[in-house]
Amino acid sequence: MQLFHHIAGLRAALEEARRAGKTIGFVPTMGNLHDAHIELVKRAQQHCDLVVVSIFVNRLQFGLNEDWDKYPRTMEQDMARLRAVNCDFLFHPDESEIYPNGMDLQTRVVCPAMTDVLCGASRPGHFEGVTTVVSKLFNIVQPHKAVFGIKDFQQLAVIRRMVEDLCMPVEIVAAPVHREADGLAMSSRNSFITAQERPRVAVLNQSLNWVKAEIEGGRRDFAELAATARQRIEESGFRVDYFAICNSKDLQPAAADDTAITVLGAMYTEAARLIDNESLEL
Ligand code: PAF
Repeated sequence: MQLFHHIAGLRAALEEARRAGKTIGFVPTMGNLHDAHIELVKRAQQHCDLVVVSIFVNRLQFGLNEDWDKYPRTMEQDMARLRAVNCDFLFHPDESEIYPNGMDLQTRVVCPAMTDVLCGASRPGHFEGVTTVVSKLFNIVQPHKAVFGIKDFQQLAVIRRMVEDLCMPVEIVAAPVHREADGLAMSSRNSFITAQERPRVAVLNQSLNWVKAEIEGGRRDFAELAATARQRIEESGFRVDYFAICNSKDLQPAAADDTAITVLGAMYTEAARLIDNESLEL
């Protein structure tokens, strides 16, 4: 695996690969790689000849009171994991490489659709930080395909919309949620879950699946279903950020005759904010 810290070096190596006729797959990450990230890399390898992974903890997408400084940084371990799956290129830039003019003066990419609801409502500016850095990374890597996890369902929807709206020549590939045995969706923030909380956190996924099954069974009293799910999560000792039943395409509250529905939830443990979702087709 070749490691690049600078845009110029990465671009030169990618240019050579392109000249050799190779297709390029891209997996943007913030590091602290776990099995779900490795699945994204494997998926990119299935689609493309050469895979680039980026590791960059993007301060622009963290709120002032959020966990940017505490976000786990495990570079040596991450590199070993990527080498073990034969990742080709790793891009690990400094902040000054990505934001040479500082973050305040950085040109932003704003996607007005779907970014002020759900995670966007409790994390103002978060998606602007994501779309800005992802568009920069797309411009740097110029991949044929980029792989994103369905776990961050709203992020995936926003990025798809950005790519469509800005005519970006990249295909977005969605990879399924990777879960622990009890259903907990894998996430770098799971390392903040305490041993006391761990046996109870699967309540988020269990509640999503319960709502999904009720809708599949014919119920359409969405407000009632969401309220029951919230109560169940709260009774397990967690604060609910949101629990919502949405139209899968535009993330607006689902209508009774919608055929593609996604149930999304976010809850706070003592030191982490966990998100998850389950989709259904009727
Ligand atoms: O999903 C993430 O890890 C980040 O939001 C991303 C896409 C790497 C952008 O910083």
